Amino acid sequence: MAHRIGIIGGDGIGPEVIAEGLKAISAAGVALDTVYYDLGGERYGRDGTVLPDSIIEEWRSLDALYLGAVGTPAVPPGLIERGLLLKMRFELDLYVNLRPFLFPEKNIDFQVVRENTEGTYAGEGGFLRKNTPHEIATQGSVNTRRGAERCIRFAFDLAASRRNHLTLVHKTNVLTFSGDLWERTFNEVATEYPNVETAYNHIDAACIHFVQAPEQYDVIVTDNLFGDILTDLGGAVAGGIGLAASANLNPDRTSPSMFEPVHGSAPDITGQGIANPTAAILSGAMMLDFLGETAAAESIKAACADPETQVEGTVAIGDAIAQRIH
Ligand code: IPM
Ligand code: MN
Repeated sequence: MAHRIGIIGGDGIGPEVIAEGLKAISAAGVALDTVYYDLGGERYGRDGTVLPDSIIEEWRSLDALYLGAVGTPAVPPGLIERGLLLKMRFELDLYVNLRPFLFPEKNIDFQVVRENTEGTYAGEGGFLRKNTPHEIATQGSVNTRRGAERCIRFAFDLAASRRNHLTLVHKTNVLTFSGDLWERTFNEVATEYPNVETAYNHIDAACIHFVQAPEQYDVIVTDNLFGDILTDLGGAVAGGIGLAASANLNPDRTSPSMFEPVHGSAPDITGQGIANPTAAILSGAMMLDFLGETAAAESIKAACADPETQVEGTVAIGDAIAQRIH
């Protein structure tokens, strides 16, 4: 039976790269039953719709969601990001943001497991005496034992399926409450995985290692904001953000997971046909993998890894990749 997939091309280069992702999936012989959703900054500009609860309910019956990118310069910054992207992550409980980085030229092969529903992203905080000289703004970081633990467990399982090495990244020397919870949870779960070697890096040191010695990493687990920043750096050191794929996973499969490239809608190059669709195509491969279409996913990943597919132009790259899928 065909997998039922919700497609949100979104804004800017989003629809351009998603079209190439669907081309690759079709070349891999996987049938999708697609439902298109017109959502993003452009839709918001037209009729004020961001993400109605009725659509979230509809999504619950789908197998997965495939998203290009959202956000346009015309809408207030952050409105679509929070109202659509973060709402999806929170409402569908997509608690793992998995971001793999593979760049053989530099011996890079690591995956970041970013906590995706808590931390500073949870929206805790507020203003006091706003717009006065004595204004106060607080922005809390929400860390639950359950939230950290389920993410850490996922990361240990992933490390156990790879090279048996897991690094916790945090800032325990300064973030003495949240860092303590993460570190204690990490150390407790570690006792259940005697074969997985563990390490710890402060976030600032991890940034140096990402640039100077990224080959030392296998799997990394970290909180939402550190993971956001670290995975952009990961993209930058591992061949560029045009190659960075991601999966927003609900590993318990109580709701559909969402697959999207790490990059944004890139309004500066929209419509020129020059965006690199590889990140979107690789995100599509992650979707197939999660849906159990392992052979098709491997075939797409292998095609993307062929240096000859890195030609010029969105459609040309998509075609070159599709031709190499068996
Ligand atoms: C990402 C993006 C989002 C995030 C933004 C658009 C809210 O940067 O997926 O990494 O911060 O998570
Ligand atoms: Mn980001």
